[in-house]
Amino acid sequence: MIRLGVNLDHIATLRQARGERYPDPVQAALLAEVGGADNITCHLREDRRHIQDRDVFALKDTIQVPLNFEMAATKDMLDLAVKVRPHAVTLVPEKREERTTEGGLDLAASREVLAAATKRLRDSGILVSLFVEPDVKAVTLSKELGADAVEFHTGSFCHKMAATTSTRAQKPLVQRLIDAAATAHHLGLQAHFGHGLNYTNAHWLQVVSHAEEANIGHAIIGRALWVGLKDAVSEMKRLLNDPAFRPLWD
Ligand code: PXP
Repeated sequence: MIRLGVNLDHIATLRQARGERYPDPVQAALLAEVGGADNITCHLREDRRHIQDRDVFALKDTIQVPLNFEMAATKDMLDLAVKVRPHAVTLVPEKREERTTEGGLDLAASREVLAAATKRLRDSGILVSLFVEPDVKAVTLSKELGADAVEFHTGSFCHKMAATTSTRAQKPLVQRLIDAAATAHHLGLQAHFGHGLNYTNAHWLQVVSHAEEANIGHAIIGRALWVGLKDAVSEMKRLLNDPAFRPLWD
């Protein structure tokens, strides 16, 4: 079974747009749990554009499934993570001007910072995942840095899949994820996936033998406008775990 992590950042985006107390990410998390979310994900950005510090504490205190806390590897964020003690931290690169997290970590360039952050979090009993591009080199380096998991940035995969309907062109795109996840599995790292996954592409993860978790936000929150959050979550969970799905090239 592929676990579904539901990212609630955009519930907070809507709240912050008006500076009100609603809609509340904690209330959303409880509905997502009812819909079958296996974990709840939130990203506390340096500019606090959506999730706020108190949301992270409130989510940790309220939800019954594990909390996956996304953050940059800065001292302030690490201090906060150690206080909150989520089940997992996913370390992500962060640029203020970006609309969303637009790529994976540059592991080689931030080697010392990431190794120290990973150690500090793991010493506090927190599982550490590194958000990386789906390539074998990034997985090997993640292992060297001491991570427990890698989350593969699926942004480029999703864009390219949307641009083609040819099975011949789709197969190598999926194969890249399969190879990256197989390397992770071989090195004892969990393989997670996230960014840009939606109701027209997430089912492909079922072809990736070692895919363990998908973290999905924008598409689920968007779909919730039409069908409600509980159903939006359960539809996605079914899509990720559909025994009838076979790729056309099989
Ligand atoms: N995983 C990580 C590490 C992210 O930073 C994000 C948000 O960019 C997501 C998953 C969710 O992406 P999306 O909102 O496109 O589903």
